[in-house]
Amino acid sequence: MSEPVQALRWRDTAQGGYLQMLDQTRLPAVFHYRDYDSAAGVAEGIRSMVVRGAPAIGVAAAYGVALEAMRWCQVAAGSDDFNHALDQGFATLAASRPTAVNLFWALDRMRVCWQKHATQTKGELAATLLKEAKFIHEDDVRINRAIGANGAALLPDGARVLTHCNAGALATAGHGTALGVIRSAVSAGKQIRVIADETRPFLQGARLTAWEMVQENIPVTLITDNMAGHMMAHGEIDAIVVGTDRVAANGDVANKIGTYMVAVLAQRHKIPFYVACPLSTIDMTLTSGSQIPIEERAREEVTGYRDCQWAAEGVDVRNPSFDVTPAELVTAIITETAVIHHPDLKSMASLFSR
Ligand code: MRU
Repeated sequence: MSEPVQALRWRDTAQGGYLQMLDQTRLPAVFHYRDYDSAAGVAEGIRSMVVRGAPAIGVAAAYGVALEAMRWCQVAAGSDDFNHALDQGFATLAASRPTAVNLFWALDRMRVCWQKHATQTKGELAATLLKEAKFIHEDDVRINRAIGANGAALLPDGARVLTHCNAGALATAGHGTALGVIRSAVSAGKQIRVIADETRPFLQGARLTAWEMVQENIPVTLITDNMAGHMMAHGEIDAIVVGTDRVAANGDVANKIGTYMVAVLAQRHKIPFYVACPLSTIDMTLTSGSQIPIEERAREEVTGYRDCQWAAEGVDVRNPSFDVTPAELVTAIITETAVIHHPDLKSMASLFSR
């Protein structure tokens, strides 16, 4: 297997450094990294989905904070102006996308770091924030490998595994969550075939998951979303593994629109439905999935794709980007520390009391 692609890269320079993000809106046709040097730039990269996937969004936001601190070190600003600008940077990043809790988790971590080192000079603080962002970045790879090891044991040799959206290296700092489970199973010597849902309307399955698997010679079959039921009914799928953007305290799971449909079908066909995620994706402040904010995206994503618009001009459109799968449909949640079978309030709380 070759090394998985990197969604984010930090580049050190004499002036401090800058962030590079692989433009996922253009994959797989164009492989191009964009450069970022401010919180506003990174926030726009998140909003426009140059970077996407819950953990990757969190890592990008952490770098966004560090970049803003570095930027304000270079202008002659007093500490009040510096603090105000950094606060603005946090607010801009927080407003970029609403559903993936990793964004807010990473921003909280960066704010705690700022508060802890509030007596440092501007230059020292910028360096401290960059160190924290780099730690979050590197730690995500370690966490994904642990998720992968925990989840790989659940997949039988020869399994045909359906996944929805992209929860791979592109959606994280590396290895992936759902695709991390598959990568780890393959590394352990298991024969796995991935069935990738196309994932309308943004096509993360067709454009990103299928591409990641092809790059690494992991067998993959691409289907459109409406083929999943047929495949399950014909015994062509043995397990489902997806990622998630936010899990509520009762185990309800928000993930890419269409995941709920897959989970309902999986229950009907008695196929295990697994969710792979880091602990940072679990939001214990929300008692159920109904409280998870669901992003609505632009109508143009539904009426067509890029320059090609195929729906009638003026038609009413809805474009909720995520849905919630109730915990009762989840066979297990796979995290870096434990696998929680049949999640509920009690078993989810146990993840944080170890
Ligand atoms: O809109 P996206 O592409 O950011 O949505 C991504 C997903 O829904 C992923 O499944 C989720 O973030 C988990 S990524 C490890």
